[in-house]
Amino acid sequence: MVMQLEQVVPFGRSLDEYVKMFNLTDADLQKSILSVADGPASFNAEGTRQGYRIKSIDPLYIFTSAQIRDRFNQVVDNVIAQIERTPDDWVWKYHKSPDGLRKNREQVTQLFCADFELGKDEGRYEVGELPKLKYQDGEFDLGLSSHFLFLYSDHFDENFHLESIREMLRVCKEVRIFPLLTLMLQRSPHLQSIVEQLEKQGYRCEIHQVGYELQRGGNEMLRIH
Ligand SMILES: C[S@@+](CC[C@H](N)C(=O)[O-])C[C@H]1O[C@@H](n2cnc3c(N)ncnc32)[C@H](O)[C@@H]1O
Repeated sequence: MVMQLEQVVPFGRSLDEYVKMFNLTDADLQKSILSVADGPASFNAEGTRQGYRIKSIDPLYIFTSAQIRDRFNQVVDNVIAQIERTPDDWVWKYHKSPDGLRKNREQVTQLFCADFELGKDEGRYEVGELPKLKYQDGEFDLGLSSHFLFLYSDHFDENFHLESIREMLRVCKEVRIFPLLTLMLQRSPHLQSIVEQLEKQGYRCEIHQVGYELQRGGNEMLRIH
């Protein structure tokens, strides 16, 4: 798929949000991590500074940091205005307010953009997209998907999800996915069937409550190993 920048809303999350969304312990953060659909998150930039080993992949990485920053600046007012128009859909425990969320996303974009070109040279950011990954079997300890799988269940069908998760499990010893809600704040219609099929294959699937909730009701993470 060739990505069109004018269709992208490059909003990314911070290392602290990743830690909370995925219940990442200090031991987890010492593992080799593949973060798929990582977009303009600052997880890699901040984590690398702490000495963590994170590879991020996303089709967005065909663009430059300047293009991604410009696109963020074009859409941020509109995204925050949409959020302000739907107050009941959001929980403000973490970001406190739409303005707090905006400040967070601006800081994340700045950290990501400042790190992106160097990180590309170092192989920490690679262009790639599910459902296929170019990595070896078991190459990573932990695979993460934040705000892509399940969230876009209306755009990607069950087969895409199953194929993508199996591919992540091929290259990662363990996979965690957050959130389990769709954009309409419903539990993904694909979740139950996917869990059943993975369990039949011998994987263990656990749904964990996490201490992060922005989308109302979106405080669950799927752990597969
Ligand atoms: C909502 S963003 C999430 C960014 C980041 N993970 C975070 O939580 O801050 C969704 C990301 O999915 C990426 N994406 C779209 N199609 C994809 C695919 N087939 N495989 C992997 N990533 C994809 C988009 O480019 C975008 O960066």
